[in-house]
Amino acid sequence: MTDRGFVVADSGFVVVDGNELSFAAGETVLQAARRAEIEIPTLCHDDRLTPAGACRMCLVEVEGTRLMQPACSLPASQGMVVRTTTPRVQRNRQFILSLHLADTIQDREVCEDNNPSRVHELAERHGTAGEWTPVEQQRQGRPLDTNPFIAFRPDRCIACSLCTRYCDQVEAVSAITLAGRGAHTTISTADAKSLTDSTCELCGGCIDVCPTGAMSEKPALAYGKPERELEKVRTTCNFCGVGCQIDLNVDREANHVVKVTSPPAGTTVNDGNLCVKGRFANDFIHHPDRLTVPMVRDRLPDGRRGELREATWEEALDRTVAGLQGVADRHGDDALAFISSSRCTGEENYLFQKMSRAAFRTQNVHQCAAT
Ligand code: SF4
Ligand code: SF4
Ligand code: FES
Repeated sequence: MTDRGFVVADSGFVVVDGNELSFAAGETVLQAARRAEIEIPTLCHDDRLTPAGACRMCLVEVEGTRLMQPACSLPASQGMVVRTTTPRVQRNRQFILSLHLADTIQDREVCEDNNPSRVHELAERHGTAGEWTPVEQQRQGRPLDTNPFIAFRPDRCIACSLCTRYCDQVEAVSAITLAGRGAHTTISTADAKSLTDSTCELCGGCIDVCPTGAMSEKPALAYGKPERELEKVRTTCNFCGVGCQIDLNVDREANHVVKVTSPPAGTTVNDGNLCVKGRFANDFIHHPDRLTVPMVRDRLPDGRRGELREATWEEALDRTVAGLQGVADRHGDDALAFISSSRCTGEENYLFQKMSRAAFRTQNVHQCAAT
């Protein structure tokens, strides 16, 4: 029995909008409905986090109860009859959206200067209860937060607590927290210090889960093009061998990678998460010092080493093979040794040992993760 008086069963059937849906132990009404592709809009829900029931966007009618119930935190119960499209449910959605818009930024273009806003997306889909007079903003920011990556913009925050729950439950560092009460409720750190003076690991997950753009990426904000005008290009992060999938957000006109976001949770191996390097360490892409073609050094007529010059891959590889083979010819095969990296993929490491053993005839091959 839950504190709302519903009987929790190991499994069974709920009836949602007339459809009999099976559920497994521990599942909520929202999970059962989504599996059947019945849309219940949410603002504070993430499958990876324990439900907070904070936004009230997902309220549905449940037969036998007087008050509407939040589908995101309501355990499915045998024989429960749920309605998600009644006029009362629709009225609540529009009311909630009007409240958020009055308390944040009403103009979608202005609000989405960087990240997309789910509040505006849902307002367009479900309508609102009319345009309400904006209320005076009382939420405080953290003006002294000098961290170089993450901006918190209180004028967009709806206090859904997705960021703080992500930081607690996924990243497990609890760097940020809900602070203050009522209209003053905001997102803060201990003593309102900079994220870099907190336990924050700068994973940027709070940016990805934020439904409004209140958490934003500072370099992308400075670049000044909204995410909707960037093209997402899926690729594999090259900082280590885990193989996290990342989305490069590319400004096609300028041929410029503006930022990196994680693919949605539940779609790739990294389940919507990234580390600080994968998300933020991408300024090397356009750095003027970056090598983009192979370089070789010629021997000068007097025997000294000349300046580096650009070469083709064929020439660079031929020179590498000739150099290695020259050492083996002069000193024997075991004069060579090959050391590979745990940051390479399993396939690359396999090929590396194959090259050592088959092409250069030495067992002197090692990988740094083995030490
Ligand atoms: S960047 Fe990661 S660790 Fe830092 S506050 Fe956000 S979620 Fe927490
Ligand atoms: S910053 Fe974003 S994720 Fe955090 S509470 Fe505000 S709206 Fe929600
Ligand atoms: S999604 Fe259920 S209360 Fe926010």
